[in-house]
Amino acid sequence: MEKQLKGVVLAGGTGSRLMPLTKVTNKHLLPVGHKPMIYYPIEKLTGAGIEEILVVTGTEHMGDMVSLLGSGRAFGCRFTYKVQDEAGGIAQALSLAENFSHGAPMAVILGDNIFEDALSGFAAAFESQARGARILGKEVHDPERFGVVELDNGRVLSIEEKPADPKSRIAVTGIYFYDAEVFNIIRQCRPSRRGELEITDVNNAYVQQGLMQMEMLTGWWSDAGTFASLGHVNRLVEQHPPQF
Ligand code: G1P
Repeated sequence: MEKQLKGVVLAGGTGSRLMPLTKVTNKHLLPVGHKPMIYYPIEKLTGAGIEEILVVTGTEHMGDMVSLLGSGRAFGCRFTYKVQDEAGGIAQALSLAENFSHGAPMAVILGDNIFEDALSGFAAAFESQARGARILGKEVHDPERFGVVELDNGRVLSIEEKPADPKSRIAVTGIYFYDAEVFNIIRQCRPSRRGELEITDVNNAYVQQGLMQMEMLTGWWSDAGTFASLGHVNRLVEQHPPQF
């Protein structure tokens, strides 16, 4: 890919599953180990050499987010901020990145996804891809909580969002790589039953075009959006610190 990879951290949402912790702050500002949660995805991106990073967040705690992160100088990057007015789904939040991307490919991380592996190897693999998208999978014991891949000989056949009867144990993590075609794909998406533009629909569009690659994470991975997972992630970062 010709243009340099840019980074996007999606850090919106109400954090309702972490009430009352999220009554006065954004979920992504809560502590994980010795840092606010959002430091992890940001440092994964900068660790992969990405210098331009867009942070998308909701209206309520945007001020706190900017106070914490600033211009990006302290992280060796430049931040752009965008506001997602209401919870319209991950794909809707990502659509706000179109001007920022300006035709460049992107690494997109959900702000509550914390993981051990460095991002740089996956980013390099994506950059050597001519076009399309790349997702990172991880085997989990509770796939029904996530997007789940259906595989045939290692090839992704489809992805189902939170299936009652999962076709594999491999969750689609909230770490995605997209070319700038993603914005045309999002424009064709329609809201799901929960009224959101689903990132899984976007990913399935790439699968159907034969333009989706998947790699497995080798280290641990967890989201941190519930009390159970937030506690779990706090233990993991102490025991096996993430690599940047
Ligand atoms: C979202 C995605 C899902 C993905 C998960 C990873 O789910 O919709 O496909 O597996 O992030 O954290 P959510 O956390 O919004 O329920």
